[in-house]
Amino acid sequence: MCRPPYIHDPEVTIREYRPPDRKDIPAVTSKYIRPPIPPHLLARVVAIANGKGGVGKTTTSVNLAARLALYGKRVLLVDLDPQGNTQIDLGYENTDQGIGMVRAVMADIPLTLIKGVRPNLDVVPGGPELTKLADHLRSLRAGHDGIGPDPSPLVFARALATVTEGYDLVIIDCPPANTDVLIDAALATARYLLIPTHADKASREGLVEMSKRFVRMRLINPHMLLLGVLLYGTSSRATTIRDIARVWIEAVLGGQAPVFSAMIRHAGGASFETREVGKVVHEIPGYTDVAEEFRELSVEALRRLAELEKAGAAR
Ligand SMILES: Nc1ncnc2c1ncn2[C@@H]1O[C@H](COP(=O)(O)OP(=O)(O)O)[C@@H](O)[C@H]1O
Ligand SMILES: [Mg+2]
Repeated sequence: MCRPPYIHDPEVTIREYRPPDRKDIPAVTSKYIRPPIPPHLLARVVAIANGKGGVGKTTTSVNLAARLALYGKRVLLVDLDPQGNTQIDLGYENTDQGIGMVRAVMADIPLTLIKGVRPNLDVVPGGPELTKLADHLRSLRAGHDGIGPDPSPLVFARALATVTEGYDLVIIDCPPANTDVLIDAALATARYLLIPTHADKASREGLVEMSKRFVRMRLINPHMLLLGVLLYGTSSRATTIRDIARVWIEAVLGGQAPVFSAMIRHAGGASFETREVGKVVHEIPGYTDVAEEFRELSVEALRRLAELEKAGAAR
């Protein structure tokens, strides 16, 4: 028999509330139970995460989001990084800087969306204000009574679920480990995890940490699946790189490591120029090779999503 398809524990305990801009007044403490989040609202959320910085998380997020939007998918990109780099990469105006997410989580104010960044592509903007969300999540974590897994990162899932209706895909660009509570919030929310990593063995530690976090967050988000590991910034497309990396990735992830066939090669010129002009790689001429790699990744990611959904429906 199928379990009820609840993605999350319905019980969320809010311990502290205060409007984000009013540090001068005392916080109100309250505790109550909320209804479960309707599972379909988070069924197509993909977190792109790796605690290591500079491994291509943001570039993958924006290119995947823009490419799938180009294919006619309705895409919501969530920038959960205080660095807010998606605004540079996609070249959109961002006066919010993440305060919308802070208010949504702390005060139930509907999330701010920047609509039509590209046809079919909307964004939940990030930026330095997200450090307030990180502080809030840290204080919720500190208040956990230690009985069972800490459900506090689910407050983000609840906020995001209010705006996901109607999107075919929601992509969360995660920050590096210095704001690890935000990574936990993304992993409490996502149905799928995509991990970009460099192919060298030195990246092993980052992957070990990510796999531990994945296992830990599945305690409160048991339906989360690994969509795949993406080899990023490789020196060539040689399949030997993928094969060698696959061996150590499988060793780290205990054999459950779907490594994407698509790889993104090192392309300093493309990454520099795209960021300079606020466009993704398929939007400027001259970088057809990198654009093709992201196209392959998009097709493969969609195929794998469909396979995992089919397998899930059959269970
Ligand atoms: N394919 C690539 N080849 C070389 N450099 C890249 C490539 N993609 C991105 N970069 C550059 O690497 C740096 C980190 O990329 P980014 O996507 O921001 O990583 P993260 O989000 O993991 O920190 C940026 O300066 C970016 O311009
Ligand atoms: Mg980034």
